[in-house]
Parts: sequence; C-alpha cells; structure tokens
Amino acid sequence: MDIPESLLNILKSAEKITFFTGAGISAESGISTFRGADGLWNKLKPEELASFDAFMKNPDIVWEWYEHRRSIANEKQPNSGHYAIAEFEKFYKVVVVTQNVDNLHCRAGSSNILELHGNIMRNYCINCRKFYEDSEIPRLEKGKVPECTVCGGWIRPDVVWFGEMLPQDVYNNAEFHASTSDICFVVGTSAVVYPAMYIPFSAKSSGAVLVEVNIEKTDFSSEAHYNLFGKSGEVLPAVLNKIKELKAI
Ligand code: OAD
Repeated sequence: MDIPESLLNILKSAEKITFFTGAGISAESGISTFRGADGLWNKLKPEELASFDAFMKNPDIVWEWYEHRRSIANEKQPNSGHYAIAEFEKFYKVVVVTQNVDNLHCRAGSSNILELHGNIMRNYCINCRKFYEDSEIPRLEKGKVPECTVCGGWIRPDVVWFGEMLPQDVYNNAEFHASTSDICFVVGTSAVVYPAMYIPFSAKSSGAVLVEVNIEKTDFSSEAHYNLFGKSGEVLPAVLNKIKELKAI
C-alpha cells in the first residue's frame, strides 16, 4: 500500500488522532453495511424498523430485528481494522468517534470511544428509563418485546432512531476531540448521514488533516486531504506498520 510521504511526515509529528468510523469498518467482520449493493436499507425500510413510531406500532417486530442484529454482532469478531485503531493508542492520543452500534471497537480494545448512534448491547425502558445490558434483559417469550422489571414499560435498544436526537453530551465531546486532533481518519462511511458527518468537518475547520479510508469514492472524498482507497482491514494495519517503522527511528 502506497502511503504518501507527506502524510507520513504529518503522522510522525502528530500527537492526537480521531478515527471517525462507519459501517464499512465492520464489513470485513461480516456485518452488513446500510448502503451500497448489499446494504440493509436496500432490502428493508428504515421507517418500519428504525423509528420510535415503528416501535410503538410494531414493538415485537422491531424488537426481533434488533435481537437479530444483536446476535450477529455478538457472534462476529472485530477485524484487523478495529485492532489497528486500538493499537494506534501505543503511539498517539486516540479518540474513536463511531456511527456504529455493534460494539466491535470496544471488543477490539479501544479505550476512548464515543458512540454517536448508541450501542445495540445497551437497552432501556421507554417508561422509567431503567438501563439493561444485553445479559440483563428479561426475555420471557421469544419474539415478544421485553417488559421492564420495575414498571412494566417496553424495553428498547439504546440506539438513535430516525427522527431522534443524537446524545448531546456524546456529540459535544466528539466535536471537542475532533477539533483538537492533528489528524482525523474518516473510515468506512458513505458520509451522508448528518449531524454525525459534521464531526470530520469540525476537525477540518480546526486545522486537522483529513484522511479518508474507503473502498470507493464518496461524497466526502473531495473534502479529504488524503484518500487511501482499499479495505480498512488492510489499509489501517499498513498505516500502523509504517508508523512503527517511523517511531523506531
Ligand atoms: P453506509 O452503509 O452508508 O456506508 C458504508 C461505507 O463503507 C461505504 O462508503 C462503503 O464504500 C464503505 N466500505 C464497505 N466496505 C468497506 C471496507 N472493507 N473498508 C472500508 N470501507 C468500506 O454506512 P454508514 O456511513 O456508517 O444510522 O451509515 C451511516 C448511518 O446510516 C448509520 O450509522 C445508520 C445508517 O442509517 C443510524 O442507524 C442512525
């Protein structure tokens, strides 16, 4: 993999890096992306599965879909892209700002993760907001939305649905870290979903160098200072290996 000399020089002196990630980083783990030929939103309607209205109308169906996605996320493993990002922490102050809800950055060992769209393993009661980890959910009947052990309210996944606000504290934190980073890697995202996509732009307007890692050109490509085209599971370990060489000198 060819990494431009000028980018290597920037990596040599950089101290803080933000990784802004999307579904593409988990593609090599076997988790479907949302857009593109095999994307989930090509086969399913988000408004029927990923909105509060849909949940209130068909709680069992929406719950089952998230149970399905949870079981996939649980059985898949982080890939070399997730592990490379975790290992960057040996050389830099690293913040991972992710749109993903699959928990794979955490399982790969990243220690500073900001989840803009929530985490599929966390759940809460829509009535009293009691939180439930995956293992704590009272699953009494398969295919049926579980009910809160305290108040009987329906339990929903702690993810951001269409029409819902992003968690404000997480977003503000992400904006702070992106805008105080030397480099922002934008990895495996189609770069079309806002407000999440404002984060890389905050980084850029504060002077960070933007590096896109994607298998193909996106709406964001022309905004990036560098485009590293290829699978994140190959590109990120290649960049990391170069850093190891640089830092050994
Ligand atoms: P998308 O499915 O929109 O985009 C995935 C991106 O990953 C595409 O640009 C692909 O080219 C790229 N890609 C695929 N495989 C790759 C690989 N091995 N290495 C590098 N890149 C690869 O997913 P997101 O941009 O994450 O929101 O979607 C953003 C949001 O839209 C999601 O968080 C979700 C969805 O609706 C919510 O659920 C709120």
